[in-house]
Amino acid sequence: MSQKFIINGGRPIEGAIKVKGAKNAALKVFPLALMTSEPIGISNMPEIEDCYRAEEMLVALGHEVSRSGKGVVEISYKSRTCVNLPPGLVNKFRASIMFVGPLLATCGEVCFPHPGGCVIGAGTRPIDMFLDGFVKMGAKVEVLENSYRLSAKKLKGATIFFPKITVTGTESLMTTACLAEGITILKNCAMEPEIPALAEFLNTMGAKIAGAGTPVIKIEGVKKLRGGNYMLIPDRIETGTFAILAAVANSGEVLIENCNPGHLEALWALFDKIGVNYKLGQNSVKISPTKKILPSNIVTHEYPGFATDLQSPYTVLMTQAHGLSLIHETIHDRRLLFTDMLTQMGANIIMADPHRVVVSGPSKLYARKLISPDLRAGIALVIAALIAEGSTEIDNIYQIERGYEDLVERLTGLGADIKKV
Ligand code: EPZ
Repeated sequence: MSQKFIINGGRPIEGAIKVKGAKNAALKVFPLALMTSEPIGISNMPEIEDCYRAEEMLVALGHEVSRSGKGVVEISYKSRTCVNLPPGLVNKFRASIMFVGPLLATCGEVCFPHPGGCVIGAGTRPIDMFLDGFVKMGAKVEVLENSYRLSAKKLKGATIFFPKITVTGTESLMTTACLAEGITILKNCAMEPEIPALAEFLNTMGAKIAGAGTPVIKIEGVKKLRGGNYMLIPDRIETGTFAILAAVANSGEVLIENCNPGHLEALWALFDKIGVNYKLGQNSVKISPTKKILPSNIVTHEYPGFATDLQSPYTVLMTQAHGLSLIHETIHDRRLLFTDMLTQMGANIIMADPHRVVVSGPSKLYARKLISPDLRAGIALVIAALIAEGSTEIDNIYQIERGYEDLVERLTGLGADIKKV
């Protein structure tokens, strides 16, 4: 029986909430343990399902993972037990693909099924750019029944152009190239803040990476990598999600702490346009009530554009804006399907096509029984439920707890009436 959230809407939302370490930074650090025989320490680690899966993956591959306190993980190398990624785990989270390159670089082969995780993206999320990159670095790819087998005696540096901007593609090939022979040049790279943060940590481990955070990244392969300690950057998507939550509730001052407002310039520019009152601090942002939210169209875009992971919460905000707004989701297929649940709650949303919806607001929302389809749509439904009249039930909350630690406690701290049953 899957767990549910029960949320009684209409409570004033105010107070302080602390942002956790970035999920999409954490998930790229665990695989680095496969590339060194020295220990790796990670702090500011969010205690969320996806991170537990990544830990289980390392243990299955022969590592020891211990906790010296909440959010502080020590990974030590024991012995490489196998080069097959456990299928049951690979299907639990998309970032499992990040374990492939390091195994290929250090063991010369790796077997894995198609990675799973979110249902967003056409069917299972494609990995063609990862495979093409590994082939360019000298790997042989065998497509088996429903898995892949990669092998390479020694990976060689290569020049790789990404036909589409891919965050994990950039991270995976940047990481793998650290142990390839010679120079790798990656072009048309993603520039999300998690990428320079990962490069910085790899460089403290002895890697030679330049240009991370720009479209061209140059990696000079080295013989081996040392261990190291990595403090995760704050989660910019959590920060943006809670800022939008405060703007939707519009019922009190909300202080969001332990964040890096510099990673969300696209959101603050949008808040200026739609009339949300916010005040940026060094590592905080304060959202105050406003008399009227204005509508604004958005087009999701790779960083530093408006993040696709904030599109779902923003769509909820637009149901409360006075007028029409067009939401254009350009990165993931199927990421707007959750809007039919907002419509069931009373929102006025027309799906123009699978990538575009038109929202007409403001609409009063009413409680419903809902199911969370993916991580970010799930939190958007939580936000909608906080202002809906009545008691909303959200099922399949594994999809939400994958990405938000202690959500019930933290939202309760803001005055929300939310329970997990
Ligand atoms: C990362 O996913 C994030 N996940 C996603 O966050 C985020 O939505 C996405 O980047 C875009 O910002 C992690 O970092 C673990 P992509 P990623 O490769 O890297 C297509 C969340 O909620 N593509 O940048 O998997 C792909 O289908 C998650 O935390 C190929 O066609 O996304 C998508 O349409 C959801 N072939 C586009 O590129 C490939 O080989 C961008 O995907 C790889 C990707």
